[in-house]
Amino acid sequence: MRWTNFILIQFLLIAVAGGIVYFHKDQLTLVKTPPASLAQWYKPDNERQVWLHNMFNLRREMQAVKLYAENKDAGRLEKWMTRLSEHYLKIGEMVPEWEKKLDKGLIADLQSHASNNRYQDIAQALDGLNENCNSCHADYRAITATMYRAPDFASIEDIGPTLTYRDHMKNLIEQVNQIKIASGDGMPEVALTSLSELKEGMNTLGKTCTGCHEKDKKDYPGDAINSTIASLEESLKTGTIKDQGRELGTLAVMACARCHATHRLPADARKLFTDRQGWQELIKH
Ligand code: HEC
Ligand code: HEC
Ligand code: HEC
Repeated sequence: MRWTNFILIQFLLIAVAGGIVYFHKDQLTLVKTPPASLAQWYKPDNERQVWLHNMFNLRREMQAVKLYAENKDAGRLEKWMTRLSEHYLKIGEMVPEWEKKLDKGLIADLQSHASNNRYQDIAQALDGLNENCNSCHADYRAITATMYRAPDFASIEDIGPTLTYRDHMKNLIEQVNQIKIASGDGMPEVALTSLSELKEGMNTLGKTCTGCHEKDKKDYPGDAINSTIASLEESLKTGTIKDQGRELGTLAVMACARCHATHRLPADARKLFTDRQGWQELIKH
């Protein structure tokens, strides 16, 4: 192949890729994902959330450095400045891809201000450092917390011998809707049967909480939900359709929506970033 053809093909490929992105720009959000080397500082690769704890240290150390510079306390300032510097440089050791994001000149300046008792220069240098912290956070903080710290429900296996967690959820919502349909269509027996199946399904779901909540036991369904179930049951026998709808709505909020707000939203976000769509899917949609 001649050189010119080769270059022409390269240009065409770039134009096609650029075109795809451009024409989908209203439907696309580009997010930066953290380097894979970050994973070693989180579960399951690591027992502790080492990365996050290094961050907590940095925040505390910046506070201490600021305080002791204001108080002109040379001894304590030196001690905290050394820690700050150590943990800041550790960022680049832990994730080498991020080493270039560090402002090593600034941390050296800070250290020199501290060693030479130039207290008045420290506040400004700390502001500069803070900007450096924030510039990485703007890109990577939320996505890292979501990818590495949101609980993973996809791996829950003890819901039943053949059922996945999602299938179990689909059954629950079918029972909720079956109650609603049967109530509206004047078939209370059908509604009551579905309610007892729903109760059973919720009890099964309740057994999965301990997998993650070992110490802070979660009582699911729990007293409040059980008493709403009892009201719904009573209402399906003797109440009006309006009463039944209201009780069912209350139950859905207490037994489903609340948990979805704490658990489903992060689980969905996590999946969005960890099972990333490939280009083929992106083009198809
Ligand atoms: C190269 C990237 C990077 C730099 C530089 C950086 N951080 Fe972070 N930081 C992160 C990431 C990623 C997270 C999210 C970690 C998580 O939530 O598990 C984070 C989270 C944090 C948190 C936890 C926030 C919270 O409230 O949950 C603190 C505190 C923090 N960083 C402090 C600092 C300080 C102080 C500096 C500067 C001295 C700094 N970070 C510099 C990447 C960085
Ligand atoms: C895959 C792991 C996992 C499973 C399974 C799980 N949770 Fe959680 N849950 C967490 C994590 C992590 C948190 C946030 C930190 C914490 O409280 O430990 C949390 C927080 C919560 C909170 C808010 C904080 C609090 O303590 O009040 C509630 C309520 C809750 N879970 C209820 C439940 C219920 C009910 C179940 C079972 C139906 C359940 N969780 C199953 C991981 C899980
Ligand atoms: C642990 C707290 C928790 C409780 C309580 C809970 N859910 Fe869920 N639900 C989840 C999580 C997490 C997902 C996401 C699962 C996934 O996609 O892997 C989910 C997903 C779903 C889905 C979507 C399934 C799909 O096809 O992707 C439905 C529907 C659903 N839940 C219905 C219900 C109903 C109805 C109830 C109440 C009777 C309920 N859930 C109670 C956590 C909970």
